[in-house]
Amino acid sequence: MCGIVAYSGKNNSVLPILVSGLKRLEYRGYDSAGVAIFSNNIIYSKKAVGKIVSLEEVINKNSPLEVGNVGIAHTRWATHGSATIENAHPHYSQDKKIWVVHNGIIENYQEIKEQLIRQGMRFESETDTEVIAKLIGSLYKGDLREAVLAATRLLTGAYALCIICEDEPNRLIGVKISSPLVVGIADDEIIIASDVSAIIERTKKVIYLEDGELIDINNTTYDIVSFHNKVKKKAISEIDWDLETATKGGYDHYLLKEILEQPQVIKDSVRGRIVNETADINFGGLIEVRSRLKQIDKIVVLGVGTSFYAAKLGELYFNALSGVPAIAVMSPEYRYTKNIINDKTWLIAMSQSGETADTIAAINEAKKHGALVTGIVNTVGSTVARITDAGVYNHIGPEISVASTKAFTSQGVLLLMHAIMLGRQRGLDYSEASAIITAIKKLPDAMQEIANNHQSIESIAKLIYQDKNLLYIGRQYNYPIALEGALKIKEISYIHAEGLSGGELKHGFIALIDNELSTIALATNDSVTDKMHANIAEIKARHGKVIAIANQNLSNVDATILVPDVQSDFVQPLVNNVILQLLAYYVAKLRNLNIDQPRNLAKSVTVE
Ligand code: M6R
Repeated sequence: MCGIVAYSGKNNSVLPILVSGLKRLEYRGYDSAGVAIFSNNIIYSKKAVGKIVSLEEVINKNSPLEVGNVGIAHTRWATHGSATIENAHPHYSQDKKIWVVHNGIIENYQEIKEQLIRQGMRFESETDTEVIAKLIGSLYKGDLREAVLAATRLLTGAYALCIICEDEPNRLIGVKISSPLVVGIADDEIIIASDVSAIIERTKKVIYLEDGELIDINNTTYDIVSFHNKVKKKAISEIDWDLETATKGGYDHYLLKEILEQPQVIKDSVRGRIVNETADINFGGLIEVRSRLKQIDKIVVLGVGTSFYAAKLGELYFNALSGVPAIAVMSPEYRYTKNIINDKTWLIAMSQSGETADTIAAINEAKKHGALVTGIVNTVGSTVARITDAGVYNHIGPEISVASTKAFTSQGVLLLMHAIMLGRQRGLDYSEASAIITAIKKLPDAMQEIANNHQSIESIAKLIYQDKNLLYIGRQYNYPIALEGALKIKEISYIHAEGLSGGELKHGFIALIDNELSTIALATNDSVTDKMHANIAEIKARHGKVIAIANQNLSNVDATILVPDVQSDFVQPLVNNVILQLLAYYVAKLRNLNIDQPRNLAKSVTVE
């Protein structure tokens, strides 16, 4: 997804600062990049298709770009028009004096473009962003803030913008609606970015801009105003992530780092939230809605992608433990189910990034129907965190690799804890709650045992890395794990995989089984183990290959991956999933693929 970095300050080497910020945003996924900076009272711009290194090569050919203390930069993930130099940001006004970088989508850009063309403007790109630049240029009468505010009254859609103007050399403006923008405040400089990763290298003091706010920076001073130009006072927050946390920590890939750090981060997710004495859960972020939870009669767990598979797990947890019926809904499908939502519905929105447009749209719709909306979100200050009534953070640190791993595990644990919390309000037995809590506490050690021996999964990966198709089967709580395992291998290995319930096999999938197809079977000890063993037998009888994930060696399979037994049907699937994450990682590694930035994918999908 697109990324923005902008700088204003006393440092005269703005270019390396911008490029370094862009590199911190690479994990979001992009296909072109560009910068524009003031240098010798003129705005210079350079753009390149492909990775930041290509942009650096272009920049290095041009010496005037080196000096300057105000600039804007962008990584673009193509939406309107393909990845070309013409479509790359920054875009500029007709007279090339006003330059803009933009994240988001302008809904009425065609209409505005036609009006501007009628006024005689010429367009060089297919983007909606060029329309913004030309529009601001057409409204400019000597005061950039006035022109940008006037433009906000005409634009509809989602945008985070940073804008500079050749006639106002020390001015940098940032503005946002429905797309994130964070402002880093240091002694001698101000950095704006679409997420904090691009800022933490220079400062940990940040201001999160809200929708309908504009920051007007003049060198190192600033005003934040509403779209009605009323000055607003904003608190400065302190980020608790350091640069080290946001880097690979010595591993070859962020993905491996993020899989292996789960024992620690899951402790962080759970920390301070379990009340041992009463076998209860206490989420500080839900205190203010606790009395409202007593009135709810239905739960909707919302998410998309990996967050949806966590929601499926949550649906099963709530239905088993909470005494309230639950259903998982995939965010882009929400609009077709909204008639089930009313003021007695509790909608729990799952989103690692907190910026997923489909999920945000569904939340806004659910709020209109009076639902209580809370979130389980990793990114502090993100849109989902701000628009929900209350919520719980994952506390797992930044997830950089595009494929989600630690976020899923944390979402699963936190949903289980939500189910226990509600269940304890509605008659869930102390001893049952206590047994699950004991298993949750075993989870980090079980994951550590797997992490200590993670290289052993490579030998299993060698059995399947050249395959074209795979099946993943699980039952009950392992069914969402089968879905997630199949998604993970699809995303990073580009192997076609299907996740299904073991019970579904006979209803169609079994037609695919032959001696070339491998099935990954989740067969750990639980109340449905016998049924899973029967499914494995069905596959073996048709000469299919089976790799089982189990607590002891199974005799009738081609390979068994052993996992520690945490003795809980609810928690064991989260242990099993770590194996599927590692399997996907090692298969992708053997296939020599771009593991952290798989093709066609973006970390944060901020368009519907
Ligand atoms: O940030 P979110 O949790 O809202 O993201 C939702 C999905 O886009 C995300 O889980 C996606 O499916 C990942 N690439 C999965 O690995």
